[in-house]
Amino acid sequence: MIELSADARTLWRLLRGQPTSGSHAANLQTFYAPQAERYDAFRARLLHGRQELISQLDLQAGSHVVELGCGTGSSLQIMGDNVRQLRQFDMVDLCPALLAVAEQRAKNFPNVRVIEADATSWRPKFAVDAVFMSYSLTMMPHWLAVITNAKAMLKPGGRFGIVDFYLPEIASPLGNAFWQRWFAHDGVHLSSQHLPLLRQSFKKLELHHCRARVPYLPGLRAPYYRFTGRKE
Ligand SMILES: C[S@@+](CC[C@H](N)C(=O)[O-])C[C@H]1O[C@@H](n2cnc3c(N)ncnc32)[C@H](O)[C@@H]1O
Repeated sequence: MIELSADARTLWRLLRGQPTSGSHAANLQTFYAPQAERYDAFRARLLHGRQELISQLDLQAGSHVVELGCGTGSSLQIMGDNVRQLRQFDMVDLCPALLAVAEQRAKNFPNVRVIEADATSWRPKFAVDAVFMSYSLTMMPHWLAVITNAKAMLKPGGRFGIVDFYLPEIASPLGNAFWQRWFAHDGVHLSSQHLPLLRQSFKKLELHHCRARVPYLPGLRAPYYRFTGRKE
C-alpha cells in the first residue's frame, strides 16, 4: 500500500504516456520532470540487469567510460567507489530533470562529468575505453545514429555494453505485439533490429536473452537482452 501510494505519480505519468507534440528533448522533459524524484525506486523494479552488465564490461582502473542515456545517474550507485578508479566517467543524457538528480549524485566524484547532450551526436574529445547504455536505446528515435556514434567514440578494442528491452526473434507474435504497444505508449520503442545491428557493429563477447517482472503486471515477463561486444 505504501509502495502503491509512493508510485502513484510515476504510474499516473506512465498512464498518460509520453507526449509526442514537441521536440524529442521537450517530450522527454515533460514526461520525466514530474517523476524524476521517484524515478529510481520505480524503475529499479522494472529495469533489470545493469549490475550484471557493468560487471561484464570489466572496467579497468584508469579507463575513460561513457554512459549514453544515463537518466538519474544511478549507475554511480551501482558502481560505488569503483568509479573513483576510472580516469573519467561521462554521463550523457538529454533530459535536464533527470540530469539534476545525476548532478547531485556526481558531486562527490571529481572524475565524473554530467553532460546534457544528444547521444546521436555528442562525442568526447578523445576515443574512450568503454561505452554502455541501460534501457536508453529504445527511447532514442535515431537509434542507428546512436550505435554509429557509440562505435565511433570507442578506441579499437574498446568495449560496448547494453541492456534493453527488445522483440525476440523466437517469441509469440502476440506477446511481441503486446509489449511493443505497451511500451510505445511511454516512448519506449521495442525493436527486433537493434540486436542484429549491434552484433554486426561489435564482436560479440556475451549475449543473454532474459525476461523481467513488470510492476503491477503479475505473471507477465518483458523480454530484454544484455549484450557486450568489442570494437575491432
Ligand atoms: C528509460 S530511461 C533509462 C535511464 C537510465 N539509463 C536507467 O537505466 O535508469 C532512458 C533515458 O534515455 C534518455 N534519452 C532519450 N533520448 C536521448 C538522446 N537522444 N540522447 C541522450 N539521452 C536520451 C532519456 O532522457 C532517459 O534518461
